[in-house]
Amino acid sequence: MTDPDPRVLLDLAVEAARKGGALAARGQAGISVLDTKSSPTDVVTEMDRASEELIRGVLLGARPGDAILGEEGGEASGSTGVRWLVDPIDGTVNYLYGRPDWGVSIAAEVDGVVVAGVVEVPVRGLTYTAVLGGGAFRDGEPIAAAPRVELGMALVATGFGYESRRRRKQAEVLGTVLPRVRDIRRVGSAALDLCDIAEGRVNAYYERGMQPWDWAAGALIAAEAGVRVEGLRGGPPSTDMTLAAVPGLFEELHDLLEPLGADTDG
Ligand code: IPD
Repeated sequence: MTDPDPRVLLDLAVEAARKGGALAARGQAGISVLDTKSSPTDVVTEMDRASEELIRGVLLGARPGDAILGEEGGEASGSTGVRWLVDPIDGTVNYLYGRPDWGVSIAAEVDGVVVAGVVEVPVRGLTYTAVLGGGAFRDGEPIAAAPRVELGMALVATGFGYESRRRRKQAEVLGTVLPRVRDIRRVGSAALDLCDIAEGRVNAYYERGMQPWDWAAGALIAAEAGVRVEGLRGGPPSTDMTLAAVPGLFEELHDLLEPLGADTDG
């Protein structure tokens, strides 16, 4: 079977992200918590579920043989070699509080390689996209990471998990990082953090505990914008760590985080 064109997959992802994002944006006012996951603060709203259902319908309606992994709906296997990675609302706590920094993240993998990704930010009306090897874009305009700065001049984004043990360790790591950098940003959406670095609005990003649906689309967009995106021990990002910065700064931040065991909980 010939591989599907990544641009065709991207167009479908954008259609699904816009539909899911519009539904979630309409439902943001007056939203309430439906359920919790890893801790009482790790929430699911009815819109996380409704939006993911709609997105799944759009993707699998057009390509019924594909596999899909969604934050809320779990995994369904397929037969085409294409797998969709879907986070219907990345930044659920922002969403719950009426804040604008949340997004819909959809990536398409072909045989395990992410080839297309979109992060849609409905309240801000922004669409970030990339296909493998084709550059990164915001609303169709090319974007690029900021040039390298020294670690001491870097604006560094990070995020925290929901479990208290992990948070204690993350606070400890932050205690070492904060005095060494220009400042820290905690936006509350990993997908948006990766788009921020892709367009030079922060210099670096690191976070432990991300899932493939959180990073897949944003990591492709950042990489296509000139950012090195990896785990802490080489290889692609993993649940242990997502670390992103332009070359040079990447190594500086890596060498600070690695001895701290920033990819562990203890
Ligand atoms: C969360 C966001 C946040 C990160 C959390 C994630 P969710 O995703 O990406 O920035 O710090 O660890 O769980 O729960 O809003 O989809």
